[in-house]
Amino acid sequence: MQYQSQLVAKPYFIAAIALFIGQIVFGLIIGTQYVVGDFLFPEIPFNVARMVHTNLLVVWLLFGFMGAAYYLVPEESERELYSPKLAIITFWIFLITGALTIIGYLAVPYATLAAITGNDILPTMGREFLEQPLITKVGIVLVVVSLLYNITMTTLTGRKTSITIILLIGLWGLAFFWLFAFYNPENLVLDKYYWWWVIHLWVEGVWELIMAALLAFILIKVTGVDREVIDKWMYVIIALALATGIIGTGHHYYWIGTPSYWQWWGSIFSALEPIPFFAMTLFAFSMVNRRRRDHPNKIATLWALGTAVTAFLGAGVWGFMHTLAPVNYYTHGSQITSAHGHLAFYGAYVMVVLAIISYAMPIMRGRVANSPQAQRWETWAFWMMTVSMVAITLLLTGAGVMQVWLQRMGDTPMSFMATQAELSIFYWLRLVGGGVFFIGLIVYVISFFIKGDVEHITVDEKIKKEKENITVEEKFKREVALAPNDDKFQKES
Ligand code: HEM
Ligand code: HEM
Ligand SMILES: [Fe+2]
Repeated sequence: MQYQSQLVAKPYFIAAIALFIGQIVFGLIIGTQYVVGDFLFPEIPFNVARMVHTNLLVVWLLFGFMGAAYYLVPEESERELYSPKLAIITFWIFLITGALTIIGYLAVPYATLAAITGNDILPTMGREFLEQPLITKVGIVLVVVSLLYNITMTTLTGRKTSITIILLIGLWGLAFFWLFAFYNPENLVLDKYYWWWVIHLWVEGVWELIMAALLAFILIKVTGVDREVIDKWMYVIIALALATGIIGTGHHYYWIGTPSYWQWWGSIFSALEPIPFFAMTLFAFSMVNRRRRDHPNKIATLWALGTAVTAFLGAGVWGFMHTLAPVNYYTHGSQITSAHGHLAFYGAYVMVVLAIISYAMPIMRGRVANSPQAQRWETWAFWMMTVSMVAITLLLTGAGVMQVWLQRMGDTPMSFMATQAELSIFYWLRLVGGGVFFIGLIVYVISFFIKGDVEHITVDEKIKKEKENITVEEKFKREVALAPNDDKFQKES
């Protein structure tokens, strides 16, 4: 670690993983309730458990983004964090607010929670993903403002790189669009219209900038590729993301009472949204292919490549599947939506957070990478979680296709509940997939405790050692491979 204050990221990452476990436990509860209707009823009703599952997801991803920002901004800015103390106070405020909110969801009926937390002063509750009580929403504002203040001051007084600039724009954007969580017009059309300014403009707008910045940071570190190359890619990616994603919001305006021109604007622009995700995949692979060092943290590289591929599949391919208005007319709000929601969130944001944790955590624990043994455990976790999430997605897609067919097409459409009964085999198998995912997550947690043969040296020392040990033929091969696009390497050698 180059700067002591980067260590404040550690509690953020630990909290993220703890809440991730909670999210999956509640995923398993609702997955079970899908097939055993009265499981845990009346203690934990489906609507409450679902809210805990999705809210924990968003909150732990935010912990991950914040930890990542506190870790990489000092290193990129080449100075200590403006105020490490503030970052730690903010951590505790966020953790306590989050925990109290979840306890509130589980302990009292939602209407009571609304009544005792001031929802009648400014009604903001009751909308998917934005269920949090007003006090929690205000708490999130304070936490994010504190983060922005801290990292903006660090950046302004230090070195400015494209990574920090793009990360900052992403985080400022995240804060800005969060403000629409406080805007809840009486008119249901307007309510839904602005609701998407939080949901869609987060995941298909400003969060993509955060993702690109984290990916670029990890790739620079593990591949040693020149910044200029990475910068060019990043600017192309974020320009494409914003150019398609902003008007792409229209793919949520097809059937909610907005003017019908949205069916054209939404279809055309959102159909282009897979392009920036595809560019991220090309970017990641081209960086790894051009790498100038063999970083010992293999598993961080795997997470980085994995996120690029899976985000393209989940957001790009599964998003495109139902984004054109004539298709969405049939698939809207079906299991197809859920299939896409799972793989997109997992591929883009879960995996990028796990990638930065995988890269940064060993360094914060005093080594350049975990032991090969620990990395082997983490590699198993990677494949178990990723393969089971792909399986869950395929099963939900199957369920969705059948659902649309039985319930919305043909001459004698079935009722919603009758259709659901026909789909139970998919839901049972989805639950099995969820079980494997959970085991993968446990293996992931165990990997942190596997000791093995760790080398307590820094990355630079490691690279120097590698250079000394390299055979003559190896060196020649590498120089030939690197020569065309790499004058710096030639100068050095
Ligand atoms: C990482 C990026 C993405 C994430 C995390 C994500 C996540 C989600 C989620 C959770 C929903 C369900 C929202 C609800 O509760 O109603 C949704 C809906 C939708 N997404 Fe995405 N998405 C992403 C990218 C994309 C892209 C790139 C496209 C298009 C190419 C797309 C197309 C859609 C469409 C059309 C819907 C509405 C489905 C319906 O009508 O029921 N998404 N997305
Ligand atoms: C990191 C992994 C996961 C992510 C990112 C994730 C994400 C989400 C999201 C965004 C939603 C709400 C949007 C929608 O309905 O489309 C959701 C709902 C749900 N998730 Fe997950 N989830 C994960 C793991 C799981 C697991 C392991 C299970 C258990 C089998 C599960 C079961 C469910 C169920 C049953 C719903 C409710 C769907 C409905 O209302 O019909 N999830 N999840
Ligand atoms: Fe969207």
